[in-house]
Amino acid sequence: MCGIVGAVAQRNITPILLEGLKRLEYRGYDSCGVALHVNGQLQRSRSTSRVADLEKQVAETGLSGFTGIAHTRWATHGAPASHNAHPHFSPSSDNARIALVHNGIIENHDELRAELTALGYVFQSQTDTEVIAHLVDHMYNGDLFETVQQAVKRLHGAYAIAVFSREEPHRVVAARQGSPLIVGIGEGENFVASDAMALAGTSNQIIYLEEGDVVDLQLGKVWIVDVNGKSAEREVKTVHAHTGAAELGPYRHYMQKEIFEQPRVIGDTLEGITGIMPELFGDGAYKVFKEIDRVLILACGTSYYAGSTAKYWIESIAKVPVNVEIASEYRYRDSVPDPRTLVVTISQSGETADTLAALKHARSLGMEHTLTICNVATSAMVRECKLAYITRAGVEVGVASTKAFTTQLAALFLLTLTLAQVNGRLTDEEESAHLKAMRHLPSAITSVLALEPQIIAWAEEFARKENALFLGRGLHYPIALEGALKLKEISYIHAEAYPAGELKHGPLALVTEEMPVVTIAPNDTLIEKLKSNMQEVRARGGQLFVFADVDSRITSGDGVHVIRMPEHYGQLSPILHVVSLQLLAYHSALARGTDVDKPRNLAKSVTVE
Ligand code: M6R
Repeated sequence: MCGIVGAVAQRNITPILLEGLKRLEYRGYDSCGVALHVNGQLQRSRSTSRVADLEKQVAETGLSGFTGIAHTRWATHGAPASHNAHPHFSPSSDNARIALVHNGIIENHDELRAELTALGYVFQSQTDTEVIAHLVDHMYNGDLFETVQQAVKRLHGAYAIAVFSREEPHRVVAARQGSPLIVGIGEGENFVASDAMALAGTSNQIIYLEEGDVVDLQLGKVWIVDVNGKSAEREVKTVHAHTGAAELGPYRHYMQKEIFEQPRVIGDTLEGITGIMPELFGDGAYKVFKEIDRVLILACGTSYYAGSTAKYWIESIAKVPVNVEIASEYRYRDSVPDPRTLVVTISQSGETADTLAALKHARSLGMEHTLTICNVATSAMVRECKLAYITRAGVEVGVASTKAFTTQLAALFLLTLTLAQVNGRLTDEEESAHLKAMRHLPSAITSVLALEPQIIAWAEEFARKENALFLGRGLHYPIALEGALKLKEISYIHAEAYPAGELKHGPLALVTEEMPVVTIAPNDTLIEKLKSNMQEVRARGGQLFVFADVDSRITSGDGVHVIRMPEHYGQLSPILHVVSLQLLAYHSALARGTDVDKPRNLAKSVTVE
């Protein structure tokens, strides 16, 4: 989702801004742009294509300067068109005094637009962002820092902004409320960006701005005021951010590469774990785990399905009641808080706006015991939670989450065992049996990956379909949901998942010979029930595509296609089954020729509500 980079320096900063945008590409965007202070004028270049295209334009025009801002936009207000791309200028394109980029959503933009239109401002875009540019221009008093502090008081909603003025050539002012923003400190030069990764290689001295902060960046000075306008000291952290996307190597897409990385990253995530101990989740975790009676999991999308799987584990092994809530719902509904709750957020990026807001909401209700399972150690989520377990999936580039999901599951299984231990529900024998199974996961996943050729054959058939159903039971119902999400997200085939026992309560009406029904068939206690559900599908002509554990005695036959999974893997079986569904989604999308790593309309890091 939108990304910001800004810089004030004594050298040409165009390459830094463009490199920063490239590092932010993984978030997803549909247009991009850069504006610089050039000989007393503001100049910009914008593109509705990739950053590489913007780079070409910039090279052709020779755009360069010492002060500037750049942006990748993911459309919310107004189509992904050049005139809506940031930076926005005010009062007009020909006579630009203010340039501004924005991430977030301004909720009172209609009201401000009417007010500014009445003052004579002419809008060039449909964005809520242009409103802020005109507002800053209207309020400008020759001191941009002061002006921005006043202007943001008029904004309702979420924003991270970076702005500069024609009249103050060595200054960039930035502010945040509800959207992430960091400052990078350099030698006689300073930077601002959406995350530390954007500045990798440029600055590793990072300040994480807090809610309501406004920052003044000049050549040798960084001055921050807080939400009350008081001068604020913020810790400068040395951050060794990832330097961005890794090479593709022999793979066609990052998603494929990331699927195949799973044995390694699961191994990395579990590296060094020789025994279960609360401190794996941070200092003071034992005390926290002792003080809780229940767990509330908050997450979105794939991370929500990881949480849904964990509910089965935690309730069955640790015997602690668990609620799993979609973050965007939880934050706005009336719920009954219990201070003896462990609030667990799950997030690959650690920047998902809904999950962060749900966490804050839970805290505002008096639930102070917070833990995050997160893939980015420097993210807002990690900073906001008392306890954390950092998954070691590495940078995930594909919008469709794969290795982040399985590493989340590995971390959540560790949490399950830890809660069980703290509650006296884990014997030494059980602990070593579970740990042994976890250590064996990388090689078990490798054997699932070896099924790729068979899955490709199925995918060719799926590619011709427009609908699919996914069935699972128990622990594997969330995996069916995740399989359906993967398929629809990247192949655009409409897919729904149901607990298999629910079929007869409605969805069976959809089953015809045209309907592929993917069935997850682990050899667990529900296998006989599942077989009956499969009969219900066959009786209506539905085509079954079954991922069956080798020991579950389901055989191929008329309308029943079977791929044999390794032998049943007990409680950890979801981690194996989901890998086959990831491959099915990937190869179906490949056969349909979609943009696998950057599916339409989606962003990797969803930093707006
Ligand atoms: O970064 P997060 O884990 O918080 O992201 C949550 C969802 O946006 C994310 O899982 C999304 O559903 C994925 N694109 C699914 O593949």
